[in-house]
Amino acid sequence: MLFRPTRSALYMPGSNVRALEKAKTLDADAVILDLEDAVAPDLKAVARAQVCGAVAAGGFGHRQVVIRINALDTPWGKYDLEAAAAAKPDAVLVPKPNDASDIERANDGLRRAGAPDTVALWAMVETPLAILNLRELAGAAKHAGSRLSCLVLGTNDLVKETRIELDAARTAALFWLSASVTAASAFGLTVLDGVYNNFKDNEGLEREARQGRMLGFDGKTLIHPDQIKASNRIFSPDAEEVVWARKIIAAFDLPEHQGKGVITLEGRMVELLHAESARRTVAIAEAIAARMPTSL
Ligand code: COA
Ligand code: MG
Repeated sequence: MLFRPTRSALYMPGSNVRALEKAKTLDADAVILDLEDAVAPDLKAVARAQVCGAVAAGGFGHRQVVIRINALDTPWGKYDLEAAAAAKPDAVLVPKPNDASDIERANDGLRRAGAPDTVALWAMVETPLAILNLRELAGAAKHAGSRLSCLVLGTNDLVKETRIELDAARTAALFWLSASVTAASAFGLTVLDGVYNNFKDNEGLEREARQGRMLGFDGKTLIHPDQIKASNRIFSPDAEEVVWARKIIAAFDLPEHQGKGVITLEGRMVELLHAESARRTVAIAEAIAARMPTSL
């Protein structure tokens, strides 16, 4: 299984040259170079040139490089998409899609702009309509030629649109979060949790990242370098989990267990479906270890 960890995805404003340079040294699994919300209208063109120049020049190492463009119905979206396609990042992140047709439009735009197949499409989930249409939005991944590979929660926009109040347990957001994870799972997509705004409160970030992991997210989007370490740790399989996963795989590989759907291991029932999860856990752990040999 080819697996690329996405435990931490750090946003940075495309207009901030220093942040773009710093991205090459940070331990984030992904960097999201933003042309949208983090860039003021007057700086859109400058940010586009800076970001696409930096991506084309490379030097981001193991990090997945993602360009978040402006929505396609804004004055900047089309130009962002064309410039991003030419810069060949790992993915283009499209903001504010409401349904499958918005995903189709981004897919078509990338194809027409000549983006190689290696450029994936990521989509924000940040409008009430997107929540209502999650099944068809995520399902667009199965359309012919679709590049959609990842959903990214935009919790700040959803809070704004719905006027909910968020407590520390994100009670009012749980529906969006679980619905997004369910839709991503149904269509084999990666899914990333929203950002934690108070970047000086590391305890709060850890609590929220742990909650995100419990809810089934693959990683968290971040806004500040100080949030990377905790997110990487929390979204990595822990050492005990990996040991147990290896035991399960080894047990099913024993000649006496060949062809069995269920076995007993250390007094617990273990089914073939657990072996599948175990293989995924080990694959994730190995992908992380391959990049940071000392991290596990
Ligand atoms: N990416 C890369 N580097 C970052 C960064 C980011 N998101 N946020 C901060 N840094 C760097 C700073 O450039 C600074 O580097 P330096 O010490 O080498 O000069 C260092 O980290 C410390 O920064 P700090 O002073 O603590 O923060 P700040 O006041 O400069 O910036 C924010 C605070 C919130 C404005 C900034 O973190 C930011 O722009 N975050 C991303 C916002 C964003 O993209 N939002 C859109 C999606 S929600
Ligand atoms: Mg947004």
